[in-house]
Amino acid sequence: MDHVIIFDTTLRDGEQSPGASMNVPEKLRLATQLEKLGVDVLEAGFPAASPGDFEAVQAISKKIRGVQVAALARTSKEDIERGWAAIRDAAKPRIHTFIATSDIHMKHKLKMSRDKVIQTTLETVRYAKSLTDNVEFSAEDASRSDRDFLCRVFEVAIDAGATTVNIPDTVGYSIPDEFGELVAYIRDHTPNIRKAVMSVHCHNDLGLATANTLAGVKAGVRQAEVTINGVGERAGNTSLEELVMSIHTRSSLLDLCTRINTREIYPTSRLVSMITGIIVQPNKAVVGANAFAHEAGIHQDGVLKNRMTYEIMEPATVGLDTNRLVLGKHSGRHAFRQRLNDLGYDLEKKEVDRLFGKFKELADKRKELLDEDIEALVAEEILRIPDVYKLLYLNVVSGTVAVPTATVKLMIEGQEAQGAGFGIGPIDATFNTIAKMVGSSAGLLRFSVNAITGGMDAQGEVTVRLQENGLVSLGKGTDPDIITASAKAYINGLNRLGYLKNNPSLKAEERRL
Ligand code: KIV
Ligand code: ZN
Repeated sequence: MDHVIIFDTTLRDGEQSPGASMNVPEKLRLATQLEKLGVDVLEAGFPAASPGDFEAVQAISKKIRGVQVAALARTSKEDIERGWAAIRDAAKPRIHTFIATSDIHMKHKLKMSRDKVIQTTLETVRYAKSLTDNVEFSAEDASRSDRDFLCRVFEVAIDAGATTVNIPDTVGYSIPDEFGELVAYIRDHTPNIRKAVMSVHCHNDLGLATANTLAGVKAGVRQAEVTINGVGERAGNTSLEELVMSIHTRSSLLDLCTRINTREIYPTSRLVSMITGIIVQPNKAVVGANAFAHEAGIHQDGVLKNRMTYEIMEPATVGLDTNRLVLGKHSGRHAFRQRLNDLGYDLEKKEVDRLFGKFKELADKRKELLDEDIEALVAEEILRIPDVYKLLYLNVVSGTVAVPTATVKLMIEGQEAQGAGFGIGPIDATFNTIAKMVGSSAGLLRFSVNAITGGMDAQGEVTVRLQENGLVSLGKGTDPDIITASAKAYINGLNRLGYLKNNPSLKAEERRL
């Protein structure tokens, strides 16, 4: 069977989703999980975009040894130099450079002639090749480009040293037959195409990203660019789990395989959702909460008789085991540390000790803790940026007759402070009180609450999006009590806003929001 290279761009195109920016520890954590998932190439970021991006790509390059680490760069010497500086320490670095090839982009955005685009491609790919053997070239907006011009650009890129040529459907405009034909045309009309791996990169504006990627694969590409949960610019990118499970489930039809460890799909999906605060829709293929839920009586009856009646994949294949290892209040430090290691967290002793205390507190409230609960604890306690504001105490009075009132004690830059306030509901009262105490006028753009696991005693996971003076931040909080989870999320959002204000290097990331 032929192997399809899985190029994951969750950390780059995925991070371009509105509200999805991640901090460096979060990116490192995700990169570690992507390595465990078995992706072949991991696009760590766009180093020339901001100092924050550069720092993250460099940190990932130093840490991740088993996967190729790619840096995105425009076709300019400065971008390539910056990209290379960020990935030069990687075990397997790749420079990914791109230029638009559609008439509409060349005329209005680049203001370049076709000849100039060819010349720029030649010079930049050649320069990238002088730094590393592993160079990918993308023709942005390929699906709306003149086909013969596209073939010419790819020919020049390959002659200049590109080892992978990527065909993006940048605006998600193609439909599968048409996209498959485009790939076949490029394959048949680019004289030196066999010297490079062909790749596709599809966006989901018409909901066709996975179908278009499969059409490309059927027409001969051997690299697919994807993101976890399909996160990405606008309507997102091809989702890794949909493509990989299509290839896995229909391998005899397609005669193809990937190197993905499918059992890591669900844990990776959870992690991305937790880090970005972007909740997976319940009916999302493969990883949605309802993906394996059978509601109709006839279906339930069939599944009980033989799962294959209505199930084309086993939940365990994507890492959704019902008999996962459960920890509880009697679990010891050793089992806890082991579970953290199995989940991919390589933490220092003092971090494990801190987490273990929190774990015991939570285990006292809930009988059983699942992996998701432990991941939420790590996100709460370890992956956070340094807190200026910390919640010490919260008491809320609310009900059908009482005026919702909150009393809050915070640690503000090392000093304890207490305040009280009202609101139209308990969460509003809590947010008003905290805002007054820290002197914030941030607006609340989004508030969402989600249960991390099933059951009446599930932890609540709250995400808020705050905006102040043109900056936008995402705050997350988890707790068995959803009002406390909301307070934690709000405080986390305020801490992140403060962090952005004090770190101008990160502002470029936030401007993308
Ligand atoms: O969508 C796109 O065209 C891209 C390129 C940079 C590959 O993300
Ligand atoms: Zn893209």
